[in-house]
Amino acid sequence: MTYLFAGASSQIAIEAAQILKSEGNRVIGISTKTALQGYDECHQVDRYETGTFPAIEGAIDGLVYFPGTINLKPFARLSAQDFMHDYQVNALGAVAFVQNYLGNLKKSNSRSIVFISSVAAQSGMPFHASIAMAKAALEGLTRSLAAELAPAIRVNAVAPSLTNTPLSERFLSTPEKIEASEKRNPLKKIGTPAEVAQAITFLLSANSSWITGQILAVDGGMGSLKL
Ligand SMILES: NC(=O)c1ccc[n+]([C@@H]2O[C@H](COP(=O)([O-])OP(=O)(O)OC[C@H]3O[C@@H](n4cnc5c(N)ncnc54)[C@H](OP(=O)(O)O)[C@@H]3O)[C@@H](O)[C@H]2O)c1
Repeated sequence: MTYLFAGASSQIAIEAAQILKSEGNRVIGISTKTALQGYDECHQVDRYETGTFPAIEGAIDGLVYFPGTINLKPFARLSAQDFMHDYQVNALGAVAFVQNYLGNLKKSNSRSIVFISSVAAQSGMPFHASIAMAKAALEGLTRSLAAELAPAIRVNAVAPSLTNTPLSERFLSTPEKIEASEKRNPLKKIGTPAEVAQAITFLLSANSSWITGQILAVDGGMGSLKL
Protein backbone atom coordinates (compact mmCIF):
# COMPACT_ATOMS: atom_id res chain seq x y z
CA MET A 1 0.00 0.00 0.00
CA THR A 2 1.07 3.62 -0.56
CA TYR A 3 0.21 6.32 1.98
CA LEU A 4 0.62 10.08 1.67
CA PHE A 5 1.20 12.29 4.73
CA ALA A 6 0.96 16.11 4.76
CA GLY A 7 2.85 17.73 7.64
CA ALA A 8 5.32 14.86 7.55
CA SER A 9 7.72 16.39 10.13
CA SER A 10 5.13 15.79 12.88
CA GLN A 11 6.41 13.40 15.54
CA ILE A 12 3.12 11.54 15.33
CA ALA A 13 3.51 11.31 11.52
CA ILE A 14 7.06 9.97 11.85
CA GLU A 15 5.86 7.26 14.27
CA ALA A 16 2.95 6.37 11.95
CA ALA A 17 5.31 6.17 8.95
CA GLN A 18 7.58 3.84 10.91
CA ILE A 19 4.67 1.49 11.74
CA LEU A 20 3.43 1.46 8.13
CA LYS A 21 6.91 0.91 6.70
CA SER A 22 7.57 -1.95 9.15
CA GLU A 23 4.49 -3.63 7.63
CA GLY A 24 5.94 -3.29 4.12
CA ASN A 25 4.04 -0.19 2.98
CA ARG A 26 5.37 2.83 1.14
CA VAL A 27 4.99 6.27 2.77
CA ILE A 28 5.37 9.58 0.92
CA GLY A 29 5.80 12.75 2.98
CA ILE A 30 4.93 16.37 2.24
CA SER A 31 6.40 18.98 4.57
CA THR A 32 7.49 22.59 4.88
CA LYS A 33 10.75 21.14 6.28
CA THR A 34 13.59 19.66 4.22
CA ALA A 35 15.60 16.43 4.51
CA LEU A 36 13.06 14.38 6.45
CA GLN A 37 14.19 10.89 7.47
CA GLY A 38 11.90 7.87 7.51
CA TYR A 39 9.95 8.40 4.27
CA ASP A 40 10.31 6.67 0.91
CA GLU A 41 9.85 9.97 -0.90
CA CYS A 42 9.60 13.58 0.34
CA HIS A 43 8.19 16.75 -1.24
CA GLN A 44 8.69 20.24 0.14
CA VAL A 45 5.90 22.85 0.07
CA ASP A 46 5.83 26.50 1.23
CA ARG A 47 2.49 26.15 2.99
CA TYR A 48 -0.64 23.99 2.95
CA GLU A 49 -3.03 25.75 0.57
CA THR A 50 -4.81 25.16 -2.72
CA GLY A 51 -2.22 25.17 -5.53
CA THR A 52 0.79 24.42 -3.30
CA PHE A 53 0.70 20.60 -3.39
CA PRO A 54 2.91 18.71 -5.89
CA ALA A 55 1.42 16.30 -8.41
CA ILE A 56 2.10 12.66 -7.52
CA GLU A 57 1.74 9.83 -10.03
CA GLY A 58 -0.22 6.63 -9.36
CA ALA A 59 -2.60 5.20 -6.82
CA ILE A 60 -2.59 6.29 -3.17
CA ASP A 61 -4.34 4.09 -0.60
CA GLY A 62 -4.52 6.50 2.31
CA LEU A 63 -4.18 10.22 3.06
CA VAL A 64 -3.35 11.72 6.47
CA TYR A 65 -3.31 15.47 7.13
CA PHE A 66 -1.11 16.28 10.18
CA PRO A 67 -0.49 20.08 10.18
CA GLY A 68 -1.82 21.79 13.27
CA THR A 69 -1.28 24.57 15.78
CA ILE A 70 -1.70 25.08 19.53
CA ASN A 71 -2.29 28.81 19.83
CA LEU A 72 -3.66 29.19 23.37
CA LYS A 73 -4.56 32.73 24.49
CA PRO A 74 -7.24 34.43 26.56
CA PHE A 75 -10.20 35.09 24.26
CA ALA A 76 -9.80 38.90 24.44
CA ARG A 77 -6.24 38.59 23.10
CA LEU A 78 -7.05 36.35 20.14
CA SER A 79 -6.98 38.47 16.97
CA ALA A 80 -8.97 37.82 13.81
CA GLN A 81 -5.61 36.92 12.26
CA ASP A 82 -5.01 34.26 14.93
CA PHE A 83 -8.39 32.70 14.15
CA MET A 84 -7.78 32.84 10.38
CA HIS A 85 -4.29 31.34 10.68
CA ASP A 86 -5.48 28.43 12.83
CA TYR A 87 -8.45 27.84 10.50
CA GLN A 88 -6.16 27.89 7.46
CA VAL A 89 -3.57 25.47 8.85
CA ASN A 90 -5.95 23.04 10.60
CA ALA A 91 -9.05 23.06 8.39
CA LEU A 92 -8.65 24.70 4.97
CA GLY A 93 -5.24 23.06 4.47
CA ALA A 94 -6.92 19.67 4.96
CA VAL A 95 -9.53 20.57 2.32
CA ALA A 96 -6.86 21.59 -0.20
CA PHE A 97 -4.84 18.43 0.52
CA VAL A 98 -7.76 16.04 -0.01
CA GLN A 99 -9.00 17.90 -3.10
CA ASN A 100 -5.53 17.67 -4.62
CA TYR A 101 -5.14 13.88 -4.14
CA LEU A 102 -8.71 12.58 -4.47
CA GLY A 103 -7.88 11.41 -8.02
CA ASN A 104 -4.94 9.31 -6.73
CA LEU A 105 -7.14 7.85 -3.98
CA LYS A 106 -9.80 6.84 -6.49
CA LYS A 107 -7.20 4.71 -8.32
CA SER A 108 -6.88 2.48 -5.21
CA ASN A 109 -9.20 -0.31 -4.08
CA SER A 110 -8.74 0.33 -0.35
CA ARG A 111 -9.21 3.99 0.45
CA SER A 112 -9.02 5.83 3.74
CA ILE A 113 -8.58 9.44 4.85
CA VAL A 114 -7.55 10.36 8.41
CA PHE A 115 -7.55 13.83 10.00
CA ILE A 116 -6.04 14.87 13.36
CA SER A 117 -8.46 16.77 15.57
CA SER A 118 -8.05 17.55 19.30
CA VAL A 119 -9.85 16.81 22.56
CA ALA A 120 -10.55 20.58 22.67
CA ALA A 121 -12.99 20.37 19.74
CA GLN A 122 -15.64 18.64 21.86
CA SER A 123 -14.61 19.53 25.45
CA GLY A 124 -14.67 23.17 26.51
CA MET A 125 -11.21 24.27 27.70
CA PRO A 126 -10.14 27.81 28.64
CA PHE A 127 -7.91 29.64 26.12
CA HIS A 128 -8.69 27.10 23.36
CA ALA A 129 -11.28 29.22 21.44
CA SER A 130 -9.31 29.46 18.19
CA ILE A 131 -7.93 25.92 18.01
CA ALA A 132 -11.25 24.46 19.21
CA MET A 133 -13.10 26.28 16.39
CA ALA A 134 -10.61 25.14 13.77
CA LYS A 135 -10.56 21.51 14.91
CA ALA A 136 -14.37 21.45 15.26
CA ALA A 137 -14.51 22.54 11.60
CA LEU A 138 -12.21 19.63 10.76
CA GLU A 139 -14.55 17.26 12.61
CA GLY A 140 -17.49 18.63 10.59
CA LEU A 141 -15.47 18.02 7.44
CA THR A 142 -14.74 14.45 8.61
CA ARG A 143 -18.43 13.54 8.93
CA SER A 144 -19.58 15.43 5.86
CA LEU A 145 -16.88 13.96 3.60
CA ALA A 146 -17.47 10.48 5.04
CA ALA A 147 -21.09 10.73 3.88
CA GLU A 148 -20.25 12.21 0.50
CA LEU A 149 -17.46 9.75 -0.33
CA ALA A 150 -19.17 6.58 1.00
CA PRO A 151 -19.05 3.73 0.16
CA ALA A 152 -15.82 4.10 -1.79
CA ILE A 153 -13.69 6.10 0.66
CA ARG A 154 -13.69 5.98 4.48
CA VAL A 155 -13.03 9.24 6.37
CA ASN A 156 -12.22 9.38 10.10
CA ALA A 157 -10.30 11.50 12.58
CA VAL A 158 -8.37 10.93 15.78
CA ALA A 159 -8.70 13.44 18.62
CA PRO A 160 -5.70 13.37 20.95
CA SER A 161 -5.29 15.08 24.30
CA LEU A 162 -1.92 16.49 25.35
CA THR A 163 0.77 14.42 23.61
CA ASN A 164 4.52 14.78 23.98
CA THR A 165 5.65 16.41 20.70
CA PRO A 166 7.45 19.66 19.77
CA LEU A 167 4.03 21.34 19.30
CA SER A 168 3.20 20.88 22.98
CA GLU A 169 6.68 21.28 24.44
CA ARG A 170 5.98 24.63 26.09
CA PHE A 171 3.29 22.94 28.20
CA LEU A 172 5.72 20.19 29.21
CA SER A 173 8.90 22.20 29.70
CA THR A 174 9.39 21.50 33.45
CA PRO A 175 8.87 18.42 35.66
CA GLU A 176 6.13 20.37 37.51
CA LYS A 177 4.19 21.07 34.28
CA ILE A 178 4.48 17.41 33.23
CA GLU A 179 3.27 16.22 36.64
CA ALA A 180 0.31 18.64 36.61
CA SER A 181 -0.70 17.48 33.11
CA GLU A 182 -0.41 13.82 34.09
CA LYS A 183 -2.57 14.40 37.19
CA ARG A 184 -5.34 16.03 35.11
CA ASN A 185 -5.62 12.98 32.82
CA PRO A 186 -7.88 10.07 33.89
CA LEU A 187 -5.14 7.57 32.94
CA LYS A 188 -2.57 9.78 34.75
CA LYS A 189 -0.30 10.18 31.77
CA ILE A 190 0.27 12.38 28.74
CA GLY A 191 0.15 10.70 25.35
CA THR A 192 3.11 9.50 23.34
CA PRO A 193 3.35 10.05 19.57
CA ALA A 194 3.36 6.24 19.17
CA GLU A 195 0.01 5.88 20.97
CA VAL A 196 -1.65 8.36 18.60
CA ALA A 197 0.13 6.84 15.58
CA GLN A 198 -1.28 3.38 16.41
CA ALA A 199 -4.82 4.75 16.18
CA ILE A 200 -4.08 6.48 12.87
CA THR A 201 -2.60 3.36 11.27
CA PHE A 202 -5.61 1.35 12.53
CA LEU A 203 -7.97 3.80 10.77
CA LEU A 204 -5.88 3.53 7.58
CA SER A 205 -5.88 -0.26 7.62
CA ALA A 206 -8.43 -2.90 6.61
CA ASN A 207 -8.86 -3.64 10.36
CA SER A 208 -11.16 -0.59 10.44
CA SER A 209 -12.98 -1.50 7.22
CA TRP A 210 -16.47 -0.90 8.73
CA ILE A 211 -15.63 2.41 10.42
CA THR A 212 -16.29 5.77 8.79
CA GLY A 213 -17.36 9.25 9.86
CA GLN A 214 -15.93 8.72 13.37
CA ILE A 215 -13.85 10.87 15.69
CA LEU A 216 -11.71 8.44 17.68
CA ALA A 217 -10.64 9.93 21.03
CA VAL A 218 -7.04 8.98 21.85
CA ASP A 219 -6.84 10.93 25.07
CA GLY A 220 -6.59 8.74 28.17
CA GLY A 221 -10.28 9.43 28.76
CA MET A 222 -9.73 13.20 29.03
CA GLY A 223 -12.69 14.16 26.83
CA SER A 224 -15.29 11.80 28.26
CA LEU A 225 -14.48 10.86 31.88
CA LYS A 226 -14.85 12.91 35.05
CA LEU A 227 -13.17 11.24 38.06
N1 LIG B 1 0.78 17.37 20.59
C1 LIG B 1 -0.42 17.52 21.13
O1 LIG B 1 -0.56 17.69 22.36
C2 LIG B 1 -1.62 17.49 20.26
C3 LIG B 1 -2.89 17.45 20.84
C4 LIG B 1 -4.02 17.45 20.02
C5 LIG B 1 -3.86 17.48 18.64
N2 LIG B 1 -2.62 17.50 18.09
C6 LIG B 1 -2.51 17.56 16.64
O2 LIG B 1 -1.57 16.62 16.15
C7 LIG B 1 -1.14 17.04 14.85
C8 LIG B 1 0.33 16.73 14.70
O3 LIG B 1 1.11 17.55 15.58
P1 LIG B 1 2.23 16.95 16.56
O4 LIG B 1 1.69 16.93 17.93
O5 LIG B 1 2.80 15.71 15.97
O6 LIG B 1 3.30 18.12 16.59
P2 LIG B 1 4.71 18.34 15.84
O7 LIG B 1 5.56 17.12 15.90
O8 LIG B 1 5.25 19.57 16.47
O9 LIG B 1 4.28 18.63 14.33
C9 LIG B 1 3.66 19.86 13.98
C10 LIG B 1 2.85 19.68 12.71
O10 LIG B 1 2.21 20.88 12.35
C11 LIG B 1 2.75 21.41 11.14
N3 LIG B 1 2.85 22.86 11.38
C12 LIG B 1 3.26 23.45 12.52
N4 LIG B 1 3.14 24.79 12.43
C13 LIG B 1 2.64 25.05 11.23
C14 LIG B 1 2.30 26.24 10.52
N5 LIG B 1 2.46 27.44 11.06
N6 LIG B 1 1.82 26.12 9.28
C15 LIG B 1 1.66 24.92 8.73
N7 LIG B 1 1.96 23.76 9.36
C16 LIG B 1 2.46 23.82 10.57
C17 LIG B 1 4.01 20.62 10.86
O11 LIG B 1 4.17 20.44 9.45
P3 LIG B 1 5.59 20.43 8.67
O12 LIG B 1 5.89 19.01 8.32
O13 LIG B 1 5.35 21.25 7.48
O14 LIG B 1 6.62 20.99 9.62
C18 LIG B 1 3.67 19.29 11.51
O15 LIG B 1 2.82 18.51 10.68
C19 LIG B 1 -1.54 18.51 14.74
O16 LIG B 1 -2.65 18.61 13.87
C20 LIG B 1 -1.97 18.90 16.14
O17 LIG B 1 -2.96 19.90 16.16
C21 LIG B 1 -1.49 17.51 18.87
